[in-house]
Amino acid sequence: MPTSAELDQIINRTGTASSKWDYEFTPEGVAQPRISGDDILAPDNQLQLWVADMDFRSPQAVIDALVARAQHGIFGYTMPPQSYYDAIMGWMQKRHNWTIKQEWILSSPGVKPSLSAILQAFTQPGDGVLIQTPIYHPFYDLIERNGRVIVHNPLIENADRYEIDWADFEQKVANPKTTMVMLCHPHNPVGRVWTHDELKRMGQLCAEHNAYFASDEIHADLTFPWSNLATIGVACEDTMHNNFVCTSPTKTFNLPGLKASNVIVSNPDLRAKVQNQFLKNNIRGVNLMGAVALEAAYAHGEAWLNDVMAYVEANYWFAKEYISEHLPQLNLYKPEASYLLWVDCRALGLEADDLHNVLCKKANVKLNNGAIFGSAGAGFMRINIGCPRPILVEALERMSRTLKEV
Ligand SMILES: Cc1ncc(COP(=O)(O)O)c(C=O)c1O
Repeated sequence: MPTSAELDQIINRTGTASSKWDYEFTPEGVAQPRISGDDILAPDNQLQLWVADMDFRSPQAVIDALVARAQHGIFGYTMPPQSYYDAIMGWMQKRHNWTIKQEWILSSPGVKPSLSAILQAFTQPGDGVLIQTPIYHPFYDLIERNGRVIVHNPLIENADRYEIDWADFEQKVANPKTTMVMLCHPHNPVGRVWTHDELKRMGQLCAEHNAYFASDEIHADLTFPWSNLATIGVACEDTMHNNFVCTSPTKTFNLPGLKASNVIVSNPDLRAKVQNQFLKNNIRGVNLMGAVALEAAYAHGEAWLNDVMAYVEANYWFAKEYISEHLPQLNLYKPEASYLLWVDCRALGLEADDLHNVLCKKANVKLNNGAIFGSAGAGFMRINIGCPRPILVEALERMSRTLKEV
């Protein structure tokens, strides 16, 4: 399993067609290649702490399984074998204390395609879909491109953590035009793990008002010792007939390029409709290598995950201390899960775009501009700390030097 010293090692990802290291994206989402030198830490190289993937190698068991499968040399059409389903059921049981049945599992190449299909199958054009903003920006895109209407349930911003505005939630979910709640659990970017009680209450309100409840749990395995995460599969057991749980090993084991995920739907009627929409969208399971990686990761990756999360936790403590000492104007929210830090930079008094430009261009550190997650994210930055510590140290030093100058 990776030691802290091993995780400290920088692996140069440039030249691997990495979205994070080899490309930048226009505001319209068009990828453009970027050039970088070999020495990641060289001052003229921009450090990439944005897209949500980690700069660590995946578990050795995953690499071995992929190599072994690649060596067979024939990559024809495949179906997920029994061991694939066993691995998913085993993982949900041991990591989430959730007993699921094989027939509840519908595979797809990603959480976003799944959410899109769920939206198409269970809502009508013009229907309202409630989301808790600021939120992972593709949620907006997904809802709007499908001709549905975004119903904002703005999160309440407290100094130490974000909370749900219940009065607003209740009022908006009770509107018959709101036919779905799309939850991000844990929440990207604000880092909240919704509590058992919060999940249960949301699930009950959805069921009461005939709104479907779809939970994106892609970050749910990436927990810290202080987080007590329940999947809605457990917390909303009583209202599961109404729910969809989107899971994936891709954030957990750093496999997003392999495109593998699952939707878990216990209600057979809902499941049949999701399946039908998958067929309409020509979503027919996971790709061959994605399935191989998923199975190896869930079956053999837990010790790796625990080591990586201990390292990410140490990165968080380091960043927290560094920021309070050298960047006291910034307010860092304590993440309850995942490797994405949500940082309030508004005390710097810079406009959102100016702040982003100063950090990207002057400090030469690429972070996510909080404004992309919605207007309430303006003046915030999202920092990906799923990286070797020397990269994080260099990024924070660059930010500190530059922000002192401005
Ligand atoms: C909350 C959330 N959902 C979904 C995704 C992407 O899912 P997929 O690549 O499986 O479509 C991400 C990636 O950053 C994410 O943060």
